[in-house]
Amino acid sequence: MKYRILHYGEAELRKNCEPINEITEEIKQLVSDMFETMYDAKGVGLAAPQVGKNIRLAIIDIGDDPIVMINPEIIKKSGKETCLEGCLSFPGLSEKVERAIKVTAEYTDLSGDTYEIEAEGLLARAIQHELDHLDGIVFVDRISKARKIQIKNDLEAIKNGETLYEEEYEDEYDDEIDEDLE
Ligand code: NI
Repeated sequence: MKYRILHYGEAELRKNCEPINEITEEIKQLVSDMFETMYDAKGVGLAAPQVGKNIRLAIIDIGDDPIVMINPEIIKKSGKETCLEGCLSFPGLSEKVERAIKVTAEYTDLSGDTYEIEAEGLLARAIQHELDHLDGIVFVDRISKARKIQIKNDLEAIKNGETLYEEEYEDEYDDEIDEDLE
């Protein structure tokens, strides 16, 4: 079953999620449905709160191996880099976000085994992005206040359930720059 992905502005995205104590059939079904939802939306990661579930669960697939992370924690971070990032809860929006280049994370998978993963590049970025969701943090919380003001109209549009398309988005952005120069 495909879920509706919650958009920026919906209260469930801001909750601190609860740890998972038992891997039930319901959790397994949810994971399967989250993969269906994420692949359909052409995303590389999805966190449970994005489908309205207030639990510490995230899935990631950057194209090699699907990863299911239950109760994940980042235990080591190093380096910093700024890259464009998007989020399925912000359709059409991409913003530059600073993240650690390398992370080490611990998590439990669906079979109940505990893993430690060392990741860098896109995978490290995806892990940091998805784990933020579990604490009620979204990627625009990590951009500058000035930039957040610049994209205020886009954020408002997303709150109102509109989808930003790249072209429109770029046009709007150009208009904003023109206004600043005038
Ligand atoms: Ni996201």
